[in-house]
Amino acid sequence: MANTELEPEERPKTLSAVDAAIHACRRCPIGFLANTAVMGEGPKRAALMIVGEQPGDQEDRAGRPFVGPSGRVLDAALERAGIDRRQVYVTNAVKHFKYVQRGKRRLHQSPTTKEIDICRWWNEAERAIVKPQVILACGGSAVRGVLGKSMAISRARGRPHPLDDGSELWVTVHPSYLLRLRDEMKEEQEALFQADLAAVTERLAELAG
Ligand code: URA
Repeated sequence: MANTELEPEERPKTLSAVDAAIHACRRCPIGFLANTAVMGEGPKRAALMIVGEQPGDQEDRAGRPFVGPSGRVLDAALERAGIDRRQVYVTNAVKHFKYVQRGKRRLHQSPTTKEIDICRWWNEAERAIVKPQVILACGGSAVRGVLGKSMAISRARGRPHPLDDGSELWVTVHPSYLLRLRDEMKEEQEALFQADLAAVTERLAELAG
């Protein structure tokens, strides 16, 4: 089985070196499927890192994270929370788009825990460079990608989870989950998502002193 950890001295030391490495990465089968690897984007140093699951169809075409329907949900919620996306490093737990082809459509497939664990290398390398104080993981795959183990979002949201490197993890649902809901459930979950972002805004302000 592939080694899932990168020793600190083996990690690429710049974001462009991580970008080159993920494009060449074939440590799991998803790397053979996608058009491109989608690197995180944002300032080289950012107080907040947002981690999603994996690029979708539009992200794979654009080569940028969160530019499709989920990205629009995220952007609107960030704006309401007073968070400027340009100040945030936005990335994914898995760097390639996993899908099945159905006619002309490419349908999203969730990555397996093994694929997420293998891809952790790259988010660890990004974290070591960007040094965020707060990491917001959106959805179960993102939580697994950051922590290396699974954690129920319903129980973990709304409070910080200290990480070994001195940063802290906050968790919320994935924006695509909100897109699938209807009626009261949708309103309820959107409000919880917004509250999670508001808590992150407050925490960032506290940390900035
Ligand atoms: N969903 C994600 O998790 N990440 C993206 O970049 C886009 C959709």
